[in-house]
Amino acid sequence: MGTRVRWGLLACGAIAKAFARGLADSETGELLAVASRDREKAEAFGREQGAPRRYGRYEDLLADPDIEAVYISTPHPGHAEWTIRAAEAGKHILCEKPLAVNAAEAETMIEAARQHHVFLMEAYMYRCHPQTARLAQLIREGVIGQVGVIQAVFSFASKFQPASRIWNNALAGGGILDVGGYTVSIARLIAGAAEGRPFSDPVSVGGHGMLHPETGVDAWAVGTMRFPNGILAAVSCGVGLAQENGVRVFGTEGRLWLPNPFAPRRDAAEPGKIFLLRRGAAAPVEMVVPAAATSFTYEADVCGRAIRAGRREAEPPAMTWADTLGNLRAQDAWRAAVGLTYEFEKTKRERAP
Ligand SMILES: NC(=O)c1ccc[n+]([C@@H]2O[C@H](COP(=O)([O-])OP(=O)(O)OC[C@H]3O[C@@H](n4cnc5c(N)ncnc54)[C@H](OP(=O)(O)O)[C@@H]3O)[C@@H](O)[C@H]2O)c1
Repeated sequence: MGTRVRWGLLACGAIAKAFARGLADSETGELLAVASRDREKAEAFGREQGAPRRYGRYEDLLADPDIEAVYISTPHPGHAEWTIRAAEAGKHILCEKPLAVNAAEAETMIEAARQHHVFLMEAYMYRCHPQTARLAQLIREGVIGQVGVIQAVFSFASKFQPASRIWNNALAGGGILDVGGYTVSIARLIAGAAEGRPFSDPVSVGGHGMLHPETGVDAWAVGTMRFPNGILAAVSCGVGLAQENGVRVFGTEGRLWLPNPFAPRRDAAEPGKIFLLRRGAAAPVEMVVPAAATSFTYEADVCGRAIRAGRREAEPPAMTWADTLGNLRAQDAWRAAVGLTYEFEKTKRERAP
């Protein structure tokens, strides 16, 4: 398929390691450089991941003319600045989820990608895994009849550490932006598939959240969405509470459930598993969806193929720009319902005591 896309990683944190490993198994890409705010960290990370070029400043990686695409995995508030700077430098971009802290910020990033003619995708890696394509296909085929209710949960219990990106207000911590976006995105995907479209946007969003008394971010939250076609969704997320993760879809002719819808294993390929219980059937059918690689490898190749084909956006079920904007609008509405505005989003007047 021609030459491999030469990637640079901007930030050397936890998920950058998973992406670097996924990229190593990809058919379309290769790791050329890594950048960290700390030169020694870049050296160590680059050595470990086999990146021949290592930079101690993000801007130095962007100035490298041999880099074609960058993977951005700073905490959420850094996504906008570095995506825009990467677009200005003419680099294609895969940026971690959430693309931005809110929809307004995401619009400016998409505008930058449009202006500079570069590829941009929000890194919801599960959208690139074959399990997700199969789920959408089953819904489109109507295997459970008319979809009525979707339930999606992604929640984990982490220790409260006020400085960590998970809990810190200035780093846009909390569940809705960290894992709630997955639940919103899969519900929107399913509601869209039910009418043969890549996604659907809710006409109303509600919710409640438990805000941490010290940093004010949502420790856990539940949300509801109603879609134009009448489908209802209940979504639940958290960073301070383990819940039973998964997705369940209830239709007039049966139900589907995915115990592992977001394919989070970072180290190994993992087949998808979808369970189907048809109305009147005694037992569910287990459908195994083979996977040749981790979702990060699939993600790198979704981007690599789009870049080589000259496309600016990914193809569904991976995240298109409109899909990302719809997802962030729903997350904005969910955050509004729980009363979470980050300090850096508030106007001076709102911040005044
Ligand atoms: N798709 C997925 O499966 C997945 C999973 C986890 C996280 N994520 C997303 O990826 C992003 C990073 O998550 P992570 O778990 O990798 O976080 P992390 O381990 O804390 O790494 C984030 C990295 O960002 C850099 N950074 C830049 N500015 C920073 C600041 N002000 N404070 C702290 N670090 C800063 C640091 O790298 P340097 O020191 O090298 O500059 C840091 O190591 C988040 O947006 C998250 O939503 C995605």
